[in-house]
Amino acid sequence: MSSVTINGKEYPIDVAPDMPLLWFLRDRLELTGTKFGCGSGLCGACTVHIDGTATRSCVMPISAVAGRSITTIEGLSENGDHPVQKAWLKHQVPQCGYCQAGQIMNAASFLANNKQPSEQDIEAAMQGNICRCGTYQRIKLAIADAAD
Ligand code: FES
Repeated sequence: MSSVTINGKEYPIDVAPDMPLLWFLRDRLELTGTKFGCGSGLCGACTVHIDGTATRSCVMPISAVAGRSITTIEGLSENGDHPVQKAWLKHQVPQCGYCQAGQIMNAASFLANNKQPSEQDIEAAMQGNICRCGTYQRIKLAIADAAD
């Protein structure tokens, strides 16, 4: 049986091969920090890292990530002390909070590859992550702060 590594631990893929990674995380492993928004790859709420790259887990079949390494919001840092998470707290980014795990995972992947982003870089990187509460301004501030 193939397996997948999630937050540093290996799990057998013992579900239907077309089960989206999002449901494997939420229903099989009870890692419910990753959220379901649109289910169509359009909102970003379900963003996780696959081998460090931000990816939408709602449209990723579990069979496609066999042998890969997944990081979810639960595994981003030991104690919630990733620089992005700290900046999120400092700027009190969330309102309802629903989209925020996806926002943070996308921001963390982006900053890992762009240490000194411009405002335009940040806007371009985050434009696919939708927030119904409109926390965009605080998201941008927090990412700029985390990049310092
Ligand atoms: Fe996956 Fe919206 S729930 S992109």
